[in-house]
Amino acid sequence: MSAIESVLVENRVFPPQEAAVKAARISGMAAYEALCRQAEQDFQGFWAQQARDNVVWTRPFSRTLDESNAPFYKWFDDGELNASANCLDKHVGTPVENETAIVFEADDGTVTRVTYKELLARVGQFANALKAQGIRKGDRVIIYMPMTVEGVVAMQACARIGATHSVVFGGFSAKALNERIIDAGAVAVITANFQMRGGKELPLKAIVDDAIAMGGCTTLRTVLVYMRTPTACNMAAGRDKTFDEVLKGQSAECTPVSVGAEHPLFILYTSGSTGKPKGVQHSTGGYLLWAKLTMDWTFDIQPKDVFWCTADIGWITGHTYVAYGPLAAGATQVIFEGIPTWPDAGRFWQMIQKHKVTVFYTAPTAIRSLIKAAETDAKVHPRNWDLSSLRILGSVGEPINPEAWMWYHKNVGGERCPIVDTFWQTETGGHVITPLPGATPTVPGSCTLPLPGIMAAIVDETGKDLPNGAGGMLVIKRPWPSMIRTIWGDPERFKKSYFPEEMGGRTYLAGDGAVRSSDRGYFRITGRIDDVLNVSGHRLGTMEIESALVSKTDLVAEAAVVGRPDDLTGEAVCAFVVLKRPRPVGEEAKKIANELRNWVAKEIGPIAKPKDIRFGDNLPKTRSGKIMRRLLRSIAKGEAITQDTSTLENPAILEQLAEKN
Ligand code: WT7
Repeated sequence: MSAIESVLVENRVFPPQEAAVKAARISGMAAYEALCRQAEQDFQGFWAQQARDNVVWTRPFSRTLDESNAPFYKWFDDGELNASANCLDKHVGTPVENETAIVFEADDGTVTRVTYKELLARVGQFANALKAQGIRKGDRVIIYMPMTVEGVVAMQACARIGATHSVVFGGFSAKALNERIIDAGAVAVITANFQMRGGKELPLKAIVDDAIAMGGCTTLRTVLVYMRTPTACNMAAGRDKTFDEVLKGQSAECTPVSVGAEHPLFILYTSGSTGKPKGVQHSTGGYLLWAKLTMDWTFDIQPKDVFWCTADIGWITGHTYVAYGPLAAGATQVIFEGIPTWPDAGRFWQMIQKHKVTVFYTAPTAIRSLIKAAETDAKVHPRNWDLSSLRILGSVGEPINPEAWMWYHKNVGGERCPIVDTFWQTETGGHVITPLPGATPTVPGSCTLPLPGIMAAIVDETGKDLPNGAGGMLVIKRPWPSMIRTIWGDPERFKKSYFPEEMGGRTYLAGDGAVRSSDRGYFRITGRIDDVLNVSGHRLGTMEIESALVSKTDLVAEAAVVGRPDDLTGEAVCAFVVLKRPRPVGEEAKKIANELRNWVAKEIGPIAKPKDIRFGDNLPKTRSGKIMRRLLRSIAKGEAITQDTSTLENPAILEQLAEKN
């Protein structure tokens, strides 16, 4: 049975253990349901109370939700706050200030601890350095950093002075970085000379140099470089400065700048259905509320917890559950620089044992690769380590197949720990559909139920509700505090992408297909319904990869990209390519396929490399010239073609396209 089929018949239910229920903040389903009812009966009152209880305001808000310009919703908008103060200053004078904020484990295993007090001083000093570089409230700053304490310090320091950060994942190419610097109108880039991953020293600053050399970065004045390793890198006089240079003489005290609740805390680029990535803009007040609240609700974080989210700060998960949430909650968290498979695939388990991690949050793709490793090498099986510190496990980024869920439950959680399969998106800011560890009975492969106040539903194209058991489109019918505010510089695209007119223009369309179970009404995400792929939990636009391929103008005439299911990476990229020369076969085809893979890595980043590349004399098209993507998806999967192909000009190309290289 395939993973997809087995999830359809999934009927195993795992109620939370009694002890977990007793200890939890939201204790039992009745408590969860009571919160949902409160939110339904007095939507604004509910959120106003949460915002007062969970956020420190420098100026209290009087308006909770302003819908007058929907879908450009505003939350708490006459209130003022500072995000960094809500993560750091808030703990001063409480027992948290001397607790460890960050346990940093470097690639080579070196461990450093930073207390809340120390982190506040480092953020303050860095914030002063940014100010000395002329960076001001509202300026955009690109952060292109490895997973380090310094990365989090850079984000917090921007927040402290009201600068809007835009973190670009360290695996993105110079071209991708160039586009983001330009789109954001960034005044500065914060980077490192190198990053350490799996024992290798990989360049970052050199990529920044390439990105700037591509031109168009007219707003950029400064590049700040963290010397992660002793290896020198190119430094442009006047433009580039090391951290040491700019930090020298700066005081550790920096008064946080109060900003309006709707002030953009950050922009994070993500893939959509066109070739151009979207700059998802988040607020300060509503976002911060969500980061704090979901740490409490979903992870039930307690003072003695050691939280570890394995996501990179380059993704939204690393924003909400590394850079902001754990600090706002006053938790101790592990930050890991390296990769799960180095020096061997036991690294995660070894680190859980070593740091006595209690709440562990990772992606299905990591779990699947570690299952595979443990199956081939018993030495890296989790049973070799003491994982008894764990009490809650989390999953994020893509649907988790029940097989991986069960393995995680048994071999990592010791059948003791609730698994929270958290569904959310860059756009939602934080969890929206997820089990609560002390309340929700879990079902493998299901993200279960919406958080209180999240009005999630499954509807048809017109926005009409569908009954349980019927597959449809996932929507959220009412706004929520941490929702995307706009697409940076493109409000029209924001409206068009997320609030379709056919549904009334106010319903948030997630872009995922979903179905609710007939018995419990539990949500199960069936995958994207737009041209977005999810490869190892990384979001990629098929159009983006297509544009990258056709930009190799000396070689490529036409390209179409689709996803196909993959046991390890969830989905895999499959590209169908027509060359400007006769269709290659054999060794020649392999050679060109590799050339194209490297080209895509250079244009976007290695994560976007097509796994499969197929060559044809043409692509299957309808009479009006539209590429028949459904047909391509079938070919990619290796399925028999059942669609009507009578309109195809040249049916023989289907055979060509079925050939792998
Ligand atoms: C897409 C969002 C959420 C942060 C990391 C990814 C998929 C995410 C789940 C889950 C099924 C999931 C969806 C979503 N997704 N979590 N628990 N179960 N699917 O953020 O890059 O914005 O991607 O990831 O397809 O739309 P993202």
